[in-house]
Order: sequence, then structure tokens, then C-alpha cells
Amino acid sequence: MEIVTSIARMKVVVRTEKDKGRSIGLVPTMGFLHEGHLSLVRISKKEADVTVVSLFVNPTQFGPQEDFRSYPRDMERDASLLRAEGVDYLFAPEAEEMFPSEYRTFVEVKDLQDVLCGRSRPGHFRGVCTVVAKLFHIVEPAVAVFGRKDAQQALILNRMVRDLNVNVRLVVAPIVREADGLAMSSRNAYLNPGERRSALVLSRSLGEARILLDGGERRADRVLPVLRSMIEAEPSTRVDYIEAVDPDTLAPAPVLSPGTLIALAVFIGRTRLIDNLIVAAYAQFEENEGKDFTPKVVLLDAQNRIKG
Ligand code: PAJ
Repeated sequence: MEIVTSIARMKVVVRTEKDKGRSIGLVPTMGFLHEGHLSLVRISKKEADVTVVSLFVNPTQFGPQEDFRSYPRDMERDASLLRAEGVDYLFAPEAEEMFPSEYRTFVEVKDLQDVLCGRSRPGHFRGVCTVVAKLFHIVEPAVAVFGRKDAQQALILNRMVRDLNVNVRLVVAPIVREADGLAMSSRNAYLNPGERRSALVLSRSLGEARILLDGGERRADRVLPVLRSMIEAEPSTRVDYIEAVDPDTLAPAPVLSPGTLIALAVFIGRTRLIDNLIVAAYAQFEENEGKDFTPKVVLLDAQNRIKG
């Protein structure tokens, strides 16, 4: 595995690989890798000839009061995990390489960037879209793999790719969880043992939503308050949002119909965690979640619905 730190070198690599007729798969990350990230790498290796993983803690997607400085980093461990997966290139530029002081251009996906996580993290998705657009131009991937853990991010990037006519196929992979159900996240490292126990309520409450859906309940105003009271009953929790939205427009969905995204963000102490469930599609993930971590490739169709 070659570690590439300059954009110029990355472009030479891309040109050389393409001249050999090889397709490129890109897995964008901010590092401190876990099984969720590695599941994306494995998909990329299946979907493309050459896999590039980017590791860049993107300053433009963090708010001024957020954890950019303290975001966990362990480049050596990450590199050895990726080497073991057979990744071809690790692209790990410095902040100054991607965003030099004269940098002025940003990509915004109107409206979709302002709801759910965007409401409490203004500017976050603008930073995400900008860095991912840059990565697409530098790496020119045929396929880029993202996780459904960050469902809003995947849906916004899918909108960006279609609006800007980017020649890339997005693959959105299922959520990889710890054995007890907690969605894997680099930020789980912030939790103390008590908070770690409280954090379980995110997946547990979505499990309750699933039970209500299985029982035929379709009204968001009957399901979401149940989730809220379960979460508020746990120590150290503060709900940021619990919402059911249309996966295309991210507008509130009063009826929980197939494809509806039930998404939540909760502060556990000072750590903000997210999780989600897709109505009707959830059944196909059931066998995966908590038991078998073999990822199933999930694609977004033309209507922005997530299909198996
Ligand atoms: P990061 O949080 O490092 O996540 C990188 C990718 O891993 C994202 O596509 C995310 O959805 C996926 N991922 C994280 N946890 C996962 C889990 N438990 N199961 C499955 N996939 C999971 O998301 C970002 O970085 C950044 O915003 C980025 C896209 C790299 C732009 O800076």
C-alpha cells in the first residue's frame, strides 16, 4: 500500500492506473478506523480494481465549538489495518494541502443541508460536500462507498452527484454495529463506561420502533414519542432530534411508509451520537444487525430510495 500525501502524486497515480484500464474505488474517511469503515473497504475491493482510502480530518465540516482538535487520530494503526485489507493507496493529505489559505470555493446542497444534523451543525454538510467533491476530482473514482450510519450525508452526496453530473456510482452500505447493537463510530471512543451503557438506548429505541412497525403502526406521532421517552429515561442523555423524514426531500414524514428514514441524534454526556432505521427496508438488515457483520451492498435508486 502506498501512502500518498500530495494531490499532485495522487493525480499521477490515478492517471497511471486508468491508463492500465483499471477502475478506481474510493472510500472517504476521517480515520480512527473501525469495522464500519473496513466494511466499506471490502465493498470497494469487490466493486473496483483499485481501492483508494482517503484519511482526512476535514476542518471545514467542524463547527467552531466542535471536536476538530480532539477528534481521535491514529494514522499508524489505520495504515496497518488498511494494509491488512489489501488497500492499494492511502490518500492522507495535510489540511494545508486540501485547503490552502487562498481556498475560496464551497459546494452547498440547498435545503437538505439545513435539516436533521444540519440544524444543530450549521455548515457541516457544506464542508462534507466540498471535501468529497474535491476527492472526486482528485481520485476520479468509478465507485465511491459510504455508510448508511450517516444516512443524511449519503442522501445529500447522492443529490450533489446528480446535480453536478459527477461520473461516479455511489454505494451505501449498511450500519455495522457492536455486538450489543451500538452503531460503530470513531466518536464512541469518547464515552466513559456509564455513557457507553446509556448509548445503547439509541439502537434499543430503534428496535422498539421496529416492533411498533411490525405491529402495523404507521403514524410517526405515535412512534417517535415512544423513542423519545425511552431515550430521555437513560442517564446523561439529551435528545438533539428524533425525526421521520422522506428520504428524497428530508421533509417530515407523518406516515411511516416504505423508504421513510427514522433518524435520531442524541448527546450522551458531551458526545453526540447518531443512528437510524429505514422503514420496510429494515427487514432486510435484520439478519445482519448485531449478528452477522457481512455487509450487503445497498444502492440508492433514481428516486433516492435505498434499495437492496
Ligand atoms: P467518517 O465518520 O470517518 O466515516 C467514513 C465513512 O464510514 C462514512 O461513509 C460513514 O458513513 C461510514 N461509517 C461510519 N461508521 C459506520 C458504521 N458503523 N457502519 C457503516 N459505515 C460506517 O463520514 C465521514 O467520515 C466524513 O464526513 C467524510 C465522508 C469522510 C467527509 O469528510
